Amino acid sequence: MTRPVFHDLRNAPAFKRSIFNAIVAPRPIGWISSMSAAGQCNLAPFSHFNMVSTAPPVLMFSCNTPADRPEKDTIANIRETGEFVYNLVSRDLTEAMNTTSAALPRGTDEFQAAGLAKASCEIVRVPRVAASPASMECRLLRFVEIAPELPGETASIVVFGRIVGLHTAEGFIDANGRFDTARARPMTRLGGNQYAEAGPIFELAAPFTKRD
Ligand SMILES: Cc1cc2nc3c(=O)[nH]c(=O)nc-3n(C[C@H](O)[C@H](O)[C@H](O)COP(=O)(O)O)c2cc1C
Repeated sequence: MTRPVFHDLRNAPAFKRSIFNAIVAPRPIGWISSMSAAGQCNLAPFSHFNMVSTAPPVLMFSCNTPADRPEKDTIANIRETGEFVYNLVSRDLTEAMNTTSAALPRGTDEFQAAGLAKASCEIVRVPRVAASPASMECRLLRFVEIAPELPGETASIVVFGRIVGLHTAEGFIDANGRFDTARARPMTRLGGNQYAEAGPIFELAAPFTKRD
């Protein structure tokens, strides 16, 4: 018989903090583009990311504290402009996404570093990833700070953004207005450096009435 193990996390125990990412998996990846007030572009992936509401359309992602700077460039840019863009990471963009996660100096353009073409947005000044099957233009709703409590912990900043514009690549929306997720092949993050694509897709009738 297997014996369950309880990990008491109230007193900074010795455990790998990455364990949570291996358990809460797979996670979607928010590939976030942003721009400084001076017009310098930035692109970085965040897997502490999700939609939190569809009407109103709101998404969130969380940034931890970098070792070499007070805050990540993504946060500094959004503080300055109040805008950002979510880009979907498809299977074919995965290596480029990984390249954009390097800690490059502020002002270095990760679009250029990863050889990615930019496309303009309609409402925000921030560019989107031209090759992504879907991008969402967002306006900052609020920052929520998660303060460290125990030794070894650092602050995180959660960013909530309201989606004000949606771009989809040609052929990804069907006659019923549905987005073709299978065709987009969205990449997800597991623990450590593990990634996974969605497995076989199936449908299950909902036991409640769904609003479209
Ligand atoms: C797939 C993936 C997911 C990541 N998720 C997060 C995350 O949720 N939060 C975070 O702070 N950093 C995350 N990172 C690291 C950031 O992408 C990295 O720190 C990046 O350099 C931040 O860029 P910036 O300083 O230009 O904003 C992730 C990296 C990868 C490759």
